[in-house]
Formats: sequence, structure tokens, C-alpha cells
Amino acid sequence: MNCCEHCDATEEVFGPEKARRDLKRYLNKGPDKTTEIMLRSIRRARLNEVQLLDIGGGIGVLHHELFKDTINRAVHVDASSAFIDIAQEQDLEHGRGAQVDYIHGDVVDLSSSMPASQIVTLDRVICCYPDWENLVKVTANKANMLYVFSIPRDRWFVKIVISIENAFRRIKGDAFRAFVHSSDELHGLLDQLGWQQLSIEGTLSWEVYTYTK
Ligand SMILES: C[S@@+](CC[C@H](N)C(=O)[O-])C[C@H]1O[C@@H](n2cnc3c(N)ncnc32)[C@H](O)[C@@H]1O
Repeated sequence: MNCCEHCDATEEVFGPEKARRDLKRYLNKGPDKTTEIMLRSIRRARLNEVQLLDIGGGIGVLHHELFKDTINRAVHVDASSAFIDIAQEQDLEHGRGAQVDYIHGDVVDLSSSMPASQIVTLDRVICCYPDWENLVKVTANKANMLYVFSIPRDRWFVKIVISIENAFRRIKGDAFRAFVHSSDELHGLLDQLGWQQLSIEGTLSWEVYTYTK
């Protein structure tokens, strides 16, 4: 799959219905587990009034939460216009529409229009992208202080589940695919780029990594 096909498929999978469902779950139950771990890790750095660049930010849970105590600006990038609409709706409702910029499209194509920020996050996004290496290079390059992301665990049982999900997508004619990229290669790249690992946390099937410069 090339990256254009990836973006069309992403727009379709992350459509209005899913965006509404995600919002309902967030409003009823709060952030999902990986998001909660990322929030805890970011808050440990005790940053204040900084800018967040959230890549593949979905309905915007990370910035909705971090506006409470850590950030004063956010840039929200997503390949799905439906998710951006829902994120923006929440920001307008909370009176912070002017503090958030929304950028729609494939983050790798958009690299020149994304501002550098103290915090850069990718929550469950690297696994949506075929060319993880380019994605990580482009996004890590935008972070000044913290680079935080979640990925599916690079383990056999997670790979089996994701292969089954991909097989169902193939049968349904859905072009979207999820990926379990090699965590060793990912860390090797971040090491080369000069990042130091601060923490690894996670759940049974997800890992959350926090890097600092
Ligand atoms: C699984 S969702 C995660 C959303 C949110 N980060 C969360 O954890 O709730 C993946 C998100 O990444 C976005 N995405 C996937 N590939 C992308 C790309 N190349 N550029 C920008 N956004 C992308 C999708 O549109 C979707 O909103």
C-alpha cells in the first residue's frame, strides 16, 4: 500500500460514526488506557504553558486533558476530517478554539507546515502507518523536549490478533491495515537521532514510550 492509499483508507476507517463513538466513550469514561499512561508520563515532566503537537490526535483527548495543567497551545494533526471536526467542536464548547490549530492530512506530507513544539505525541498512530521510519523521523524532528508515543507490543500474540483483524479488513474490501513495527528498530532510530529513553510503560498489548532530548 502506498501512502495515498493509506490516507484514503484512514479517512474511511476513522469516519464520523467512529469519531462520535470515541467522543461518547471519552465523555462517559475518560481517556483510554494508553492515553492515560501518556498523560501521566507527560505530567511527570512538570512542564507548564508549552505547546503540544499531537499527531493523529483523533478526537483530541490528549490536548483536551493537557489544557488543564500543562499546555497553552496545541496543534492537532489528523488524516481524518471527521475526527478533526469532533476535536474542534469540543474546543469551541470549552472556549479554547483560538488556542488550537488543526491540520488535516498525512503527517509525512505536511512536515513543513507543522511547527516545532515542546511536546510531540503519537497515541496509537505509528501502527496505522506503513512507513514507520519516515513517520518517526519527521515527527521526532519537531519535538524540543518530549517525544511520547504508544505502539502495539512487538510480541507474537499481538501480531496474531492484528493479522486476523487485517484478514477481516481484506475480506470486507477495506484497504486500511494495521502494523506491528519492530520496537528494536524504532528505538535504534531514536537513539541515532539523539533521543534518550525516559520510560517504558504499558498494558498487556500496548507499550508507551517517553523520550527526551
Ligand atoms: C487509532 S486512531 C488514534 C487516535 C488518538 N490518537 C487516540 O489514541 O485516541 C489513529 C489516528 O491517527 C490518524 N492517522 C493515521 N495515519 C495518519 C497520518 N499519516 N497522518 C495523520 N494522521 C494519521 C487517524 O486518522 C486516526 O485519527
